[in-house]
This record gives sequence, structure tokens and C-alpha cells, in this order.
Amino acid sequence: MAESMLPAHVGIIMDGNGRWAKKRLQPRTLGHRAGAQNFRTITRYASKLGIKYLTVYAFSTENWSRPAEEVGALLRLFKDYLEEALRDFMEENIRVRFIGDVSAFPQELRKLIAEVEEASAPKTGMVLNLAMNYGGRAEILRGARAFAADVRAGLCQPEDLTEERFDRYLYTAGQPAPDLIIRPSGEQRVSNFLLWQCAYAEFVYFDILWPDFKPQDLDRALEIYRSRQRRFGGV
Ligand code: FPP
Repeated sequence: MAESMLPAHVGIIMDGNGRWAKKRLQPRTLGHRAGAQNFRTITRYASKLGIKYLTVYAFSTENWSRPAEEVGALLRLFKDYLEEALRDFMEENIRVRFIGDVSAFPQELRKLIAEVEEASAPKTGMVLNLAMNYGGRAEILRGARAFAADVRAGLCQPEDLTEERFDRYLYTAGQPAPDLIIRPSGEQRVSNFLLWQCAYAEFVYFDILWPDFKPQDLDRALEIYRSRQRRFGGV
């Protein structure tokens, strides 16, 4: 596929791990482990294809309400991945960034997050945004508070706020908005993912559970994206 036809920014809601495990009469945590493995495969593939920005929804602000055992299992998977990422950065040209309120995670994980961000900062390839303890509404509120603080500090006036300027107050400041958002597992919801940024995104839904989502399915999503005409509100 010609690079110009590739979306610059792709978002993925990695849904369906629990159902994948249930179908196999296994605990949900096993589904998350399979999902984490697939996340590695798809991330590498997206980078190989030349996608510039990939944002994956790894943990939402609502996921804390899951049973403690499941939350613990997810945090362990994040830890394993981040440790592995630190070892692998020599070969991978991927820059990892985190979007969401990571201050809520245990100290050990926060330290790894900071290390991974720092170690991968010089990388010039794909930017991988890991949305962790992320919620679109919380992100917008955080931006609104930061803007209000700048007004109070005398740095700007309320009427200075434009859509472009507000972008700078978001976790994704400086990045293009997602062109394509993919949700596997059959659910057709946004679930508080990149709410501000997805205003003009194309959505592609698949009836495939995330652990079964293959590189060919990403190809298929890109094909569907290519076949759609984006008008950005014009004619
Ligand atoms: C939604 O599926 C998935 C999550 C809440 C967690 C997503 C996390 C991963 C795929 C692991 C990511 C790992 C790394 C290293 C970034 P669900 O559990 O809601 O599935 P269900 O709807 O079938 O119950």
C-alpha cells in the first residue's frame, strides 16, 4: 500500500480478551495474557507497515472497578511488557508514550513507565501511545483545568481558546488526530477513547476477539479505510 494511503494515526480498542478466555473455559486473566501477546504482534506489524502513530487502549479509568485479581493480572502484564521493552529498544525503532493518569499506578510501574519513555525518546519510528488509566472525558477536563490555570496566571485570555490551541492541552499534544479507530470483539462503542481527537476518525468494527485479531485483519481495516471517502464535514 502506498504510504500516502496509510492513515497517519490508528487507534485500537483491544476488546474481547475476557470472552476469548471464556470460550476456552479459562480464567479471564488468560485472555489478557493472550491479548498482551497479540498487542506485541500487532504493534510490530503496524510499525513495519509505516504507520506513524498507534494508540492502544490498554486500561481505562473504569477498569479499576474489575475484580482485584484481574486488575493485578493486568498490572503484571504491563510490568512484563515494559521490562521487555527496555531490553528490546536496541532493535525496535518505536517511541513509547503514555496517555492517561499514570500517577495512580504503583510506584514500581511508574518507575518503569518513566524509564521506557526516556529510553525510547530518541527513537525516530512509530510513536506508540499506551492509553493507561485513560479516559477521554478525564483528559478533556484535565485540559480545561490547565487552560483555566494559564488564564488565572495571566498567560492568556478565555477568548484565546481555539480548537487548535486546546489540542495542546491534551495528552496527544503535537500529534495528528486519529484517522482510523478499530474495535474488534463486536462491540460498537467509543467507550471514552480519544473523545476529542476522534471527531473525524473513521471507525471500523470487527467481529473478532482481540487475541484472534491478526496482522491480516489490520490489513483489512486499512483497506476499508482506504475505500471510504473522508469529507471532514465538506461535500
Ligand atoms: C478489554 O477486554 C481489554 C482490557 C480491559 C485490557 C486490554 C489489555 C490488554 C490487551 C493487555 C495489554 C498489555 C499490554 C502489555 C499493553 P475485556 O476484558 O473487556 O474483554 P470482554 O469484553 O470479552 O470481557
